[in-house]
Amino acid sequence: MSFGKPGNLSEIRRGEIAFHDAALCFQQWQSCASCHPDARADALNWDLLNDGIGNPKNSRSMLFAHTISPVMISGIRPNAETAVRAGFRFIQFVSVPDETTACVDAYLKALRPIPGKAVNGQESGAAALRGKQLFARAQCSTCHAGEYYTDGKLYDVGLGPDERGIRQFVTPPLAEVWRTAPYLYDGRAESIREVLTTFNRGDTHGKTSDLSEQDIDDLAAYILSL
Ligand code: HEC
Ligand code: HEC
Repeated sequence: MSFGKPGNLSEIRRGEIAFHDAALCFQQWQSCASCHPDARADALNWDLLNDGIGNPKNSRSMLFAHTISPVMISGIRPNAETAVRAGFRFIQFVSVPDETTACVDAYLKALRPIPGKAVNGQESGAAALRGKQLFARAQCSTCHAGEYYTDGKLYDVGLGPDERGIRQFVTPPLAEVWRTAPYLYDGRAESIREVLTTFNRGDTHGKTSDLSEQDIDDLAAYILSL
């Protein structure tokens, strides 16, 4: 037996440890997981400086972050690799070896979704199936397109400007949104229903004004099953 010696940990496991390690922070008071618990989102708004000061943004999930580009809701970083390195440097004020950031990339790339349908059993629900058709009819799929439900493009969907005048945001992926409320860049929407109704009065974010109450519920059920 040898105590104190690390075993033969995989790159993914070492990345998971670094992501949760507050020793990798100036004065050791927070880790990546402080704002990204389970590598998802803590539901809070944080005023990071990469898009200016005084305009807090809702935390984001790490799921599929390495498959989309650009990242950050304002698209201020080209990819997740850059964001990971910037996180250590500008949020945790620490310099870590390239080996560590490579392991964090490996850990985050290894994350797998837990689909909403596996959690709340909507897979075979008639509501979610009807909602899937509405997703196309309401033009959601023009931007929330492809395997990750994003086209990676910036749009003004009528929700801005933020406090710094930013109006354009990158289409966010929708997998696992059941676990990332509140929604939109400043977390103003508590539910998917609110995204589709209260905060889409002018059809600037998909065509929802002609949907019935039942349709809205069905579309929300579908989104929550992803
Ligand atoms: C103080 C809270 C906080 C800490 C600590 C933090 N983050 Fe973040 N992170 C955020 C917020 C808030 C966003 C979303 C900002 C935005 O959209 O402009 C974000 C976004 C990201 C993104 C982009 C995700 C995407 O798909 O757009 C990555 C990658 C990321 N963080 C990685 C990390 C890593 C790695 C660490 C540790 C070194 C870390 N974060 C520490 C709050 C934090
Ligand atoms: C023109 C492109 C576009 C269309 C069409 C569109 N979206 Fe979006 N969607 C976006 C953008 C950009 C955001 C980010 C806005 C923000 O964060 O404030 C977003 C945000 C969202 C969110 C919040 C995700 C989160 O994690 O906060 C949901 C849910 C969503 N859209 C669902 C839909 C549905 C359902 C439709 C169809 C009714 C739709 N979208 C149509 C571009 C689009």
